[in-house]
Amino acid sequence: MKTDIVRAESAGAISVAVEKAVSALRAGTIVAVPTETVYGLAADALNTDASLKIFEAKERPRFDPLIVHLPDAGWLPRVARIDRNSADGAIMEKLIEAFWPGPLTLILPRRDVPDVVTAGLDTVAVRVSAHPLFARIVAAFGSPVAAPSANRFGRVSPTDAKAVAAELDGRIPLIIDGGQTLHGVESTIVRVHDGRLELLRHGPVTMEQLSAFAPVKVAEPGERPVAPGQLASHYAPATPLVLVQSADTFVIPRNGKAGALCYERKPKTGYAAVRVLSPSGDLREAAVNLFRCLRELDEARLELIVAEEVPAEGVGAAIMERLRRAATRGSAVVGKPP
Ligand code: TXA
Ligand code: MG
Repeated sequence: MKTDIVRAESAGAISVAVEKAVSALRAGTIVAVPTETVYGLAADALNTDASLKIFEAKERPRFDPLIVHLPDAGWLPRVARIDRNSADGAIMEKLIEAFWPGPLTLILPRRDVPDVVTAGLDTVAVRVSAHPLFARIVAAFGSPVAAPSANRFGRVSPTDAKAVAAELDGRIPLIIDGGQTLHGVESTIVRVHDGRLELLRHGPVTMEQLSAFAPVKVAEPGERPVAPGQLASHYAPATPLVLVQSADTFVIPRNGKAGALCYERKPKTGYAAVRVLSPSGDLREAAVNLFRCLRELDEARLELIVAEEVPAEGVGAAIMERLRRAATRGSAVVGKPP
C-alpha cells in the first residue's frame, strides 16, 4: 500500500487535509492524524470494520481497547453513561469542564460502542481533542473517532509525521502532517470511583492538577484493567534501555556503544550519541522532546541507551512512567548487544 502524506501548513492546505481525512473516515479507511498529545491512527469509531483496520495496521492485540474522540462533550451521553446526580458524576462533570477539550481521557460505563473498540469491556475511554486540525476533522466528520497512538504495538508513540511514517509507512493509506505535537506524551487517563480519581496513565494533565477535584490514587498494575498500554513493558525502543540517576556516574559496559538520554545537561564523556531533553530544565519541554529523542537514539545503532531520571513532579511523572516501561524490556540484556 502506498502511504500519502498531506502537509497541512497554509489555510488552503489545511482545508484540503481536513477534506481528505474526513473522506477517509467516511469511506471506512484509516488515517494518521496529529493530536495535541501524540499522533493517532483514526477510524470511524461506530464502524466495526473500519476500527478493525487500526488493529491490523498496528498489529495491536484485540484485547487492547481504543480511545474514542468525541466531536464535543455533548456527545458523551450517546457513547457512555454518566449519572450527573451521583457524587462521582459531579466530579466527572467538573473534570470535563476544566480539561475538555484537552489531553484528559475518562473511563466511563459504555453505551452503544462496537465491541472491537472497547475490546469487549463494559467501559469506554473517551476524550475531546484540543488539536485545532484534528478537532476540525472530528467536527466535520460529525461522529466519534477511535484513535490509538499511530505506532506499531508496544513501540514509541510518534510526535511528528516522520515518526508516523517510520512506524506505519506502507501499512496505512494516509498521514496528515500537522507538525510536531504540543505535549509529546499521551493523554492522562482517569476513572472516577467512590469519590476518588484513579489515575491509570500519567500524562499532560498532572496529578497536582487533578487533586484539586478529588483525592487521586495511582492505580496499581494489578488493579488496572487488562490492557497492554498498562503492561510493564511498553513504549519500548528496540535498543535496550537502562534508567539511571546520572549518565555521568553510570559505568558504560566495556566495548559497549552507548547513547545517553539526559534531562538538562550533556554527560562529560563516553557516549557515542547524546540527547538532552531540556537544557533549561523545563519538564514540559522535556516531554515534548522525549519520544523523538528516544527514536533518534534507537536509530543510532547503539547497544545501550542510558536514560537519566527526571524529577517525578508535574508532567515529569508521565516522562518517568514512559522511561520505566521502556526500561523494562532493555534491562534484561544490559551490556550485551541486542
Ligand atoms: O493521547 C492519547 O491518548 C493518544 C491520542 C491519539 O489520543 N491515544 C493513545 O491511545 O494513547 P493508545 O491506544 O495508545 O492508549 C490508550 C490506552 C491504552 O493503554 C488502553 O489500554 C487504554 O487506553 N484504554 C482504552 N480503553 C480503556 C478502558 N475501557 N479501560 C481502561 N483502559 C482503557
Ligand atoms: Mg499507544
